[in-house]
Amino acid sequence: MSQRCVVLIGMMGAGKSGVGRALAETLGYEFVDTDKLIEKNAGKKIRRIFEDEGEARFRELEKEAVASLKGSTGKVIATGGGAFQAQENRVVFNSIGLTVYLKASARELYARIKNDTSRPLIHTADPKAEIARLLAEREHNYESAVVVVDTEDLSVEEVVDHLIDELARRTLGDG
Ligand code: S3P
Repeated sequence: MSQRCVVLIGMMGAGKSGVGRALAETLGYEFVDTDKLIEKNAGKKIRRIFEDEGEARFRELEKEAVASLKGSTGKVIATGGGAFQAQENRVVFNSIGLTVYLKASARELYARIKNDTSRPLIHTADPKAEIARLLAEREHNYESAVVVVDTEDLSVEEVVDHLIDELARRTLGDG
């Protein structure tokens, strides 16, 4: 019986990679990070892709990486913060698994990523305002996930525990 994937969505700083890795380990699933797939395919870091080729090209590479996941089973997938904005990506994610929005406020997200230099979209004069703007723009799509977890005051371990409980209540077996 094939195991449906778990697809983690949400903003930069939502904890998708940390939660994803731990969840995959607990479930015995493979862990996939779409940003890492993009970097592998492009042969360079996300930051360099943005610098050299711009965001539009990055979004194309992101769509190619997501399309390569069609038909996947038994994976926990951490998606880039903007990946759920493209309709074609949402179709792929919804077809392969259970979508989970890791939710947090702009204030909390900013606190978690303010010292990070690897995220080009927040290299702006006012990163806090940019996070709030992106969140407002994207929230509608994020909220369409099947499961929404408010991670505001939770540790990675607590989010993972919560998700394990949530998944136990659902049939992941043959979806
Ligand atoms: C982006 C988020 C990043 C990465 C890229 C763009 C976004 O991924 O895909 O920098 O548009 O929010 P994380 O959400 O893993 O930081």
